[in-house]
Amino acid sequence: MVERATWKTRLGFIFAAIGSAVGLGNIWRFPFQTAEFGGAAFLFVYLVAVVLIGIPAILAEFVIGRRAQLNAIDAFEKLGHPSWKVVGALGVFTGFWVLSYYSVIGGWVMRYIVGSLSGAYFGDPATYFGTVSTGLPALAAHGLFMLVAVSIVAFGVEEGIERATTVMVPAILVLLVGIAVYAVTLPGASEGYAYFLSPDLGAITDNLASVIPAAVGQALFSLSLGFSVMITYASYVGEDENLGVDGLSIAGFNTGIGVLAGLVAFPLLFAQGVSPDTAGPGAVFVSIPTALAKLPVGGILGLVFFLIVLIAALSSAISLLEVLVSYMVDNYGYARKRLATIAGSVIFLLGVPSALDTAWLGWFDGVAVNLFLPLVVFLVVVFVGWILADEAVAEIREGTRGGESLAVAWLWSVRTIVLLGVGLSLALGVYELYTPESAYILPPGLRPWLLERVPWPLL
Ligand code: PFF
Repeated sequence: MVERATWKTRLGFIFAAIGSAVGLGNIWRFPFQTAEFGGAAFLFVYLVAVVLIGIPAILAEFVIGRRAQLNAIDAFEKLGHPSWKVVGALGVFTGFWVLSYYSVIGGWVMRYIVGSLSGAYFGDPATYFGTVSTGLPALAAHGLFMLVAVSIVAFGVEEGIERATTVMVPAILVLLVGIAVYAVTLPGASEGYAYFLSPDLGAITDNLASVIPAAVGQALFSLSLGFSVMITYASYVGEDENLGVDGLSIAGFNTGIGVLAGLVAFPLLFAQGVSPDTAGPGAVFVSIPTALAKLPVGGILGLVFFLIVLIAALSSAISLLEVLVSYMVDNYGYARKRLATIAGSVIFLLGVPSALDTAWLGWFDGVAVNLFLPLVVFLVVVFVGWILADEAVAEIREGTRGGESLAVAWLWSVRTIVLLGVGLSLALGVYELYTPESAYILPPGLRPWLLERVPWPLL
């Protein structure tokens, strides 16, 4: 077995984990989910979900990884529960699945950077999105994005991931703060702040059954939970590190970036009179350019904005790839470079349908966020809360002084609130499968065909 890598510095781990967490989920997915579920009301439920579910759950993944010091699949066996390896494997599979379409969106972002320079998307943003997001151009950009991600992972944990994310994370912060400050100066921006920040509590209670799973799913996706990523990254961490403090910093920073992205997007949209609720995967790619087109410095702003999105997407993509490569490096004697290339190629192929048609992309995303994510996190939480139990409490206390009652409180929150919250999301995700309007159970195209032939309850 190859000697196991570790993070060179404590901040290296935190930056890499933040790099994974902060991504398209914060800047692309979060604003359009917020708009779809009524603005500030969604933000409020999302924040509650991060605190009550996200933070305890990220610690649960950390505990598995650091205790085992092994990749996310073999970790379960090393901890004495070999049959639970399937949970690690499911997480790795989910990462594989998500990266296939994540990379397609990463490809769009690359095209938008070029488009900002040439001004190509200003004339007619919706048509531009249509050309960029489907067919051969999208496929080529998807390939290019995967190639960059593979190159970084090929360099390894310290030389590749740690070095890259230590530059990327501060860059995201600085650029995003810069553009948020600019947004303050726009006339009409205040309406955007009101929409994003002052919740209409009525809207929350009216829609609870759909807002809760959406907010929990977004919290899990955004913190990279359920992909075995945080298990893997924590496996490179030493026993002298305080996992609780790290988890809080990572979750805090990640949420801050999501909120900051909202503070950029909504004032920009409202100031230009662009409706925020163009839902769906194209939302940010059409509405932001529409707003930018009306501004005198739109090209530069667009360049900065899409550069932020690209850096964020890349640092997340490398974490998804690393999970798989870490498993293969631990188990097969091949060189990391070769394994990263093989994994990247397979993921590229899986992404072909999403690159050719955004309906497929929506389907891949729906299956991942509504089913795979809550399922994996649910199993992880059962494992840590009820099976590792005292061992988990001992692990979380490593690297801290005292803190026993806090650690026990964490265990009970995992066993109760987190389990129930994620279980409820999972149940609603499964229930959704049986509703006639469910968009994600069958691949696009197959559903209308089957609906004509098979009665509803069976679908
Ligand atoms: N957390 C990332 C985001 O919000 O964009 C997405 C992601 C990255 C999910 C890595 C899972 C993962 F393993």
